[in-house]
Amino acid sequence: MKVLLTGGVGFIGLKTAKKLMEQGHEVFALDSLLKQVHQDIEAEKAAFPGEIFVGDVSDVAAWEELPRAEAIIHLAAETGTAQSMYETERYRRVNVEGTRLAAEYAVKWQASLVSLSSRAVYGEGFANRGTTEEDAHQPLSVYGETKSEAEDIVRELCHGVIGATIVRPQNVIGPGQALHNPYTGVLAAFLARLREGKNLSVYGDGTATRDFIHVEDVANFLIWCMNNQPEPGDSPRVLNCGSGERITLDQLAQFSIDAVPGGSDSVIEHVEIKRAGDIDHALADMSRAEALGAPLARWSARESIADFIQKSWEVPGAKSEAWDVALNELTERGLAE
Ligand SMILES: NC(=O)c1ccc[n+]([C@@H]2O[C@H](COP(=O)([O-])OP(=O)(O)OC[C@H]3O[C@@H](n4cnc5c(N)ncnc54)[C@H](O)[C@@H]3O)[C@@H](O)[C@H]2O)c1
Repeated sequence: MKVLLTGGVGFIGLKTAKKLMEQGHEVFALDSLLKQVHQDIEAEKAAFPGEIFVGDVSDVAAWEELPRAEAIIHLAAETGTAQSMYETERYRRVNVEGTRLAAEYAVKWQASLVSLSSRAVYGEGFANRGTTEEDAHQPLSVYGETKSEAEDIVRELCHGVIGATIVRPQNVIGPGQALHNPYTGVLAAFLARLREGKNLSVYGDGTATRDFIHVEDVANFLIWCMNNQPEPGDSPRVLNCGSGERITLDQLAQFSIDAVPGGSDSVIEHVEIKRAGDIDHALADMSRAEALGAPLARWSARESIADFIQKSWEVPGAKSEAWDVALNELTERGLAE
């Protein structure tokens, strides 16, 4: 099949594109090669196993340049939760209007669509259970709001016309995630501090929980969704995408310390910081995906974290100061205290 991956040169896109190619599909990407995400653009372009069309997913002219695809996996997005609170217009344009064009072109081409949403649509999770796809949308960030609006657009445009699936990943981790982008990824911040021999700062008391899923598991999940779309006459399907395993932020920090090649003397420090959009609990209820036969996560949280720390150890990345600067930006705007 001929598959378009928007945002295909990003973390999840690259892994998915490589697997698709191994499985005999032809892939191409529409990607703006965003500076904040890509530092070594030439190397990252070379890693993508197909043609790359450089353009903005929210620009119709970029779509007009593309050859027709039989399936679209729509990943392109602005992804910084905290940054979305002040770069509102950009987040809305890319995440909402970009998804509108992805859905419009999927319909025009009669291609199937897998559209990446996020668990951010739920806002706060639950201490005693995972969120199900039926739970209400109560986003706490502009990022979450844009993803929620984008879902409505996919439902509206694709219902009864093409097979479409909306996927809501939890925290995706693994080798290849951006090490320079201080607006996303607590784990990249931990890696930077560990490499500098610093202690790990955990915001709050460390009991907040998250669901971390390895990027390999996500790529397999997305490909399954592409191959197992609902009938075009049906409504777009919504699926959570997490490991279903809950770990605390303290465990996240400890598993990271444990994974340092050659051992580490770093310890965990709790810092009283609360950023706008931060939540206490996140966990996916994977019952719906399981009932449909979708591939569930194979990596445990500890294994995923170790894989990320060990394979990223020698990869160039930002210094830990970059995360301090990003936090200062939030504090100055009254978005962290
Ligand atoms: N990584 C996670 O933990 C996570 C969790 C939930 C949802 N998601 C969603 O999964 C998708 C992929 O995330 P990722 O982690 O691979 O992010 P990423 O930042 O690594 O990749 C996104 C890609 O999109 C491109 N892009 C950004 N703006 C664009 C634009 N206007 N036009 C064209 N391309 C553009 C970037 O250059 C990048 O290559 C996103 O939609 C994100 O919201 C990710």
